[in-house]
Amino acid sequence: MPALRSVAALAALSLLPQISLAQEVTDNSTSSDTTVSSSQYWHERYHGLLSMAAYSDDPTTICTQQTFTQDALLKSFPQSTEAPWTLIQQFGPTASGASGFNVIIPEMDKVVIVFKGMFGWESTFNDSVVDIGTLLNLGPKCTEVEGGCTAHAGAVQAYLEVEEATNNWELVEYYVNTTGHQWSVTGHGFGGMMAQIASLRLGWQGKVHWSHSHGAARVFNPAAANLYNSLFQGEAGQRTVANDDAVPGYIPESANYTHTLQGFHVYGENATYGMNFDICNTATDPNCLGGNNVSDHLFYYTPIGQCGNPNKQNITQQDAYESTASAAFYATATSTFVPPTTTAEPTSTSDSQPVTTGSGVSSAAGSAASGVANAAKANTNGAAKLVGTGLAGLFATALGFVLLA
Ligand SMILES: *[C@@H]1O[C@H](CO)[C@@H](O)[C@H](O)[C@H]1NC(C)=O
Ligand SMILES: *[C@@H]1O[C@H](CO)[C@@H](O)[C@H](O)[C@H]1NC(C)=O
Ligand SMILES: *[C@@H]1O[C@H](CO)[C@@H](O)[C@H](O)[C@H]1NC(C)=O
Ligand SMILES: *[C@@H]1O[C@H](CO)[C@@H](O)[C@H](O)[C@H]1NC(C)=O
Ligand SMILES: *[C@@H]1O[C@H](CO)[C@@H](O)[C@H](O)[C@H]1NC(C)=O
Ligand SMILES: *[C@@H]1O[C@H](CO)[C@@H](O)[C@H](O)[C@H]1NC(C)=O
Repeated sequence: MPALRSVAALAALSLLPQISLAQEVTDNSTSSDTTVSSSQYWHERYHGLLSMAAYSDDPTTICTQQTFTQDALLKSFPQSTEAPWTLIQQFGPTASGASGFNVIIPEMDKVVIVFKGMFGWESTFNDSVVDIGTLLNLGPKCTEVEGGCTAHAGAVQAYLEVEEATNNWELVEYYVNTTGHQWSVTGHGFGGMMAQIASLRLGWQGKVHWSHSHGAARVFNPAAANLYNSLFQGEAGQRTVANDDAVPGYIPESANYTHTLQGFHVYGENATYGMNFDICNTATDPNCLGGNNVSDHLFYYTPIGQCGNPNKQNITQQDAYESTASAAFYATATSTFVPPTTTAEPTSTSDSQPVTTGSGVSSAAGSAASGVANAAKANTNGAAKLVGTGLAGLFATALGFVLLA
């Protein structure tokens, strides 16, 4: 179980700006609560920026030039003598194409695994599943459940390749041990699917306590999702969907696939937070299922390949990424993928369709063909609110640099 700390546990007021980022403050509420603290939001946002930076060839340079600068650090942490950001290693691409980087972020009190996504994964892999209860040694909650715990076979394979390439995260664990920082995981797209697998694997081992993913398709069956949800208790496991991102719906809800909790929907523009946010506490809450817009996959707090600057959509830049990645992908691959039709209602188990069926549509072009937009975009979770207005305001002020950097 994650080491959640309550607002009441925070020390002297003067220390608040320094520790607010370093702790994902929650109110110890149950997963049925619809509140999220602003600190939780800023942590999630930070993990989102890292996920988008994974698409840069040089995340160190791009992040230290954009968001994680010494200047930005000192604005919020005037006494800090910490380095804002230290790259541990980059990994991949593995045989399946998995890649990413590992980083120490002292100001967040975290060592973070960041999985890059992969253009065209939905036509590279099919939706077959593998028993992870045994493969990843996940204990009785998997082995004693009928059908066991399963996950997307392609993503599990890709994850295991990274585990091997990093010698079972040896360097990450070394830095977690020697710095005392907490271990968290993040990723985007297919990288978000791998991030959920890594979190389940390393969370079950008691090593990882925080798990974030962005624009990830479904990866677990209900038994595996339940185990993930129980490990991260909702608040410590955020599965984020931006605007009407189509990718979270690429693998439909079925007996083999469901979404993890807590769902987190970020949308539009917001002067304080960059984006507005709502939370979802059920796997089928339409607010966190995404929609039918593939462009929205390319913006999670910042455009793909960036690390916080700009904080607004830059369609020129996002399209440039799309066409480069698409050209690289179709130089060697042929897509057979047709995105599932998006409906406002969660699909029933019988609606499940393999991702390999259909005729050649690129994932970019596919967005236009995927039917009705998610009609349920209205804020059914409009009750999402901050924990403790006074503290929230302080956090927002202290952390405002993230938006300005
Ligand atoms: C589906 O994917 C699995 C593992 O990713 C692979 O072993 C299998 O051959 C694939 N099946 C088809 C029909 O392509
Ligand atoms: C980290 O610490 C744990 C607990 O002491 C130990 O079992 C593990 O081998 C250490 N790992 C590394 C890479 O230093
Ligand atoms: C779930 O996966 C199993 C094993 O791959 C397969 O036999 C079954 O048809 C799948 N069920 C659904 C609803 O897709
Ligand atoms: C910013 O987002 C929060 C959370 O969704 C919301 O409560 C607040 O009203 C928004 N502020 C503005 C100025 O839109
Ligand atoms: C998809 O999202 C992009 C970025 O938000 C927006 O510019 C575009 O109009 C959207 N497309 C549709 C069809 O809604
Ligand atoms: C958008 O991206 C393009 C291409 O990277 C860049 O030239 C332009 O300055 C960006 N616009 C903004 C407003 O950041």
